[in-house]
Amino acid sequence: MGYGFYGWDHGDVREVTDEYRRGWTPCELYDALMDIWCEYTCAPRLRGQWSRENRTVGQCSITAFLAQDIFGGRVYGILRPGGNYHCYNVVGDCVFDLTSEQFGDEVLDYEGNPEQFREVHFAKEEKRQRYQFLKGELERRFGRRMMSVSGIMKKMILGTEGNIQDINHFLKVHSYAKLIGECEGLCARELRTLEIGAIVHDIACPLCREKYGNTNGRRQEEEGMTLVRRFFEGENLERDILERVVFLVGHHHTLTDIQGMDYQILVEADYLVNAGEGHYSEENIRGMLSKAFRTRTGKELLEGIYLGGK
Ligand SMILES: [Fe+2]
Repeated sequence: MGYGFYGWDHGDVREVTDEYRRGWTPCELYDALMDIWCEYTCAPRLRGQWSRENRTVGQCSITAFLAQDIFGGRVYGILRPGGNYHCYNVVGDCVFDLTSEQFGDEVLDYEGNPEQFREVHFAKEEKRQRYQFLKGELERRFGRRMMSVSGIMKKMILGTEGNIQDINHFLKVHSYAKLIGECEGLCARELRTLEIGAIVHDIACPLCREKYGNTNGRRQEEEGMTLVRRFFEGENLERDILERVVFLVGHHHTLTDIQGMDYQILVEADYLVNAGEGHYSEENIRGMLSKAFRTRTGKELLEGIYLGGK
């Protein structure tokens, strides 16, 4: 038996994310969404038309972007009377439109339409919230893996838009943080928190350079806390780890009252990298060694690298 949505039989599209690991096809996602689409997930202006018999009405953009999360590819939009775009997915050669049934017998033209971007669509807060609800329900019902450290690293690298200096910096800080964390015997959850904190710790640098002309302490910490929350929005990350990572980003330049091994090690790892990148003086390094370095591994590394082991 076939499906009613456009493109259900167009080729072989499979889940590309490593988050759900269900090997989903568009038809299977459609089946899952049939139970989740509701009046609330429908665009407010179309709610009057929504019914269980017409479930796909007003669901197109949030559904297409959710399908993009799972299958990759691009989202395109057909201009409709009234100026709104009806969104659908294109993955490789396959065009599919999970919410086409709302148009009944009308034949839509899926050729030559403009690409649609989530930043534009989700600038509308109510739409972003409906998308998150839809995604959240899918996760709740079908489970989803937690975001991996390498997944976070990949997202951060791609989000850095080719700034090699920024990328190299956090890769080095992450490496030192992981090394110190493992040598100091952190448990798996502490290590995960530390590694994630190290990857995103300087997330506000590009913004601060543009907004303030520098990447100095306090502002970078403050802006960073907001940006980290935005970075993980819609992602599956343990709530307590997210809160701690936000805290770490918001304090990684604050050397007073360092509480917790993750915080301590992040400060040490960041300094180990900064000392080299910024060609810090021996005096500066010795000062930091006595003032802020606490872990045995961190001290050994700092002395070994910059002070000739003295
Ligand atoms: Fe840093």
